[in-house]
Amino acid sequence: MRKPIIVGNWKMNLTHLEAIALVQKLSYRLESDVYDLCEVVVCPPFTSLRSVQTTIDSDKMKIDLGAQNVNENDKGAFTGEISAGMLKKLNCNYVLVGHSERRQHCGETNEETAKKVKAVRKLEMTPILCVGETKEQRENGDTTSVVENQVREGLSAIPKGDIENCVIAYEPVWAIGAGTPATIEQANEMIFHIRGVLNSLNSGTGDETRVIYGASVDPGNSKSFLSQDGIDGLLVGGASLDADDFSRLVLSAIK
Ligand code: PGA
Repeated sequence: MRKPIIVGNWKMNLTHLEAIALVQKLSYRLESDVYDLCEVVVCPPFTSLRSVQTTIDSDKMKIDLGAQNVNENDKGAFTGEISAGMLKKLNCNYVLVGHSERRQHCGETNEETAKKVKAVRKLEMTPILCVGETKEQRENGDTTSVVENQVREGLSAIPKGDIENCVIAYEPVWAIGAGTPATIEQANEMIFHIRGVLNSLNSGTGDETRVIYGASVDPGNSKSFLSQDGIDGLLVGGASLDADDFSRLVLSAIK
């Protein structure tokens, strides 16, 4: 049984005070039965993780906490970096790995995403491995091979039996922040392809692993994506920064 998951990626937005206000408002908007139907995760910037975590814990919220990135090393001389152990101690259950903005702006490679996935799994948190093609790659007909490599290589450092404990997020780069998402057909096609790749890595894994869609998801289209058989959740950027929008997006997706 793959429980749906809706993840808000706040990116480089909100001070810790604004982050507290947002999670409080979001929790207020979501009745407790929502969490029987899906997991709701927020991924604040590192500077807000502690504040959001204490807010979640002290108010006994059912919202889950995620981080947007992690360093693959346990500890040491890596100025400016954050380890999986630090995130675990903050009750993070999820960590985004290989988001396209990190691949694009920080030069993150498939090899690095593999190490990060391994570091996250070592501490039994759930990596959300982000994959997706650029506009140019799609136009060149390279979409399936690019995404296949991102999935294969990103999962190459963990045991095959552990793959189902990861979440794969298909995010076509050309649709992120664009206001226009991929079509349902495009999303279904790639998610079906990803399940095939997962099955080729370990038979049956394609049916066990949650594969989600992200890029320009909003309250008006969340249901059409989440109601697809193969789509187990949503990764949401812009529309997760407003409690009214994000709660409407969650409620319309699951009801
Ligand atoms: P968007 O971002 O919802 O603003 O398109 C999605 C993402 O980057 O995860």
